[in-house]
Amino acid sequence: MDREAYVEELLAEDAELRAVRERSEAAGLRPISVVPGYGRLLTVLVRACRAREVLEIGALGGYSGICLARGLGPGGRLTSLEIEEEYARFAAERLRGAGFGDRVEYRVGPALESMRALEGEGRRFDFFFVDADKEGYPAYLEAALRLARPGALIAADNALWSDRVLDPSDTSEAAEAMRRFNRELARHPRLASVVLPAWDGMALAVVDG
Ligand code: SAH
Ligand code: DHB
Ligand code: MG
Repeated sequence: MDREAYVEELLAEDAELRAVRERSEAAGLRPISVVPGYGRLLTVLVRACRAREVLEIGALGGYSGICLARGLGPGGRLTSLEIEEEYARFAAERLRGAGFGDRVEYRVGPALESMRALEGEGRRFDFFFVDADKEGYPAYLEAALRLARPGALIAADNALWSDRVLDPSDTSEAAEAMRRFNRELARHPRLASVVLPAWDGMALAVVDG
């Protein structure tokens, strides 16, 4: 058994999340929901931050949305951005099934446009989960910084991008964008950051308070 398998057995995925994962794969969605261990991390972090306004970028089948919503206290809400209307509808159905129907709002369209709209509406967030197209990560970071309340937390999935960020011969747009995102996170004067290297990597950064 490797160390990740040990943790996966110790803190197994519960029946509700397993059903959501299976249902989303059965519906033909790609099997790329966040890993169970990082789903748990999202719940823990949202709760630890006492986040009231959470923004998810990339909803897919609602798996990470449920993890984020589980961390919310009373009055907290989740806004989730998804480019595919069909996925947003599917995810909204799963969140309703999990009892979070009145705490979540889906916005369909390119995430960057939705983030600009939210900024214009004066919306601000305490927690961000970045998990959409990897090419977009650097722009999502910039937009998140404009939408962040002081002390907000930014979490980003796939920071290691199947180790493609480690391979200098991989000059794909996604690998280059993820390297740039990680570098900017590491160097940004308004951020204190860390990258967790388990599974596919999870980047975490807290915005200056
Ligand atoms: N966070 C989900 C997995 C997201 S997979 C989970 O862990 O359960 C990435 C999602 O980002 C896909 O649903 C894809 O349709 C969406 N996406 C891709 N490009 C996007 C864009 N430009 N704007 C918004 N969503 C996008
Ligand atoms: C892909 C996207 C993800 O968010 C992920 O966690 C794994 C894979 C992808 O687009 O291949
Ligand atoms: Mg991901």
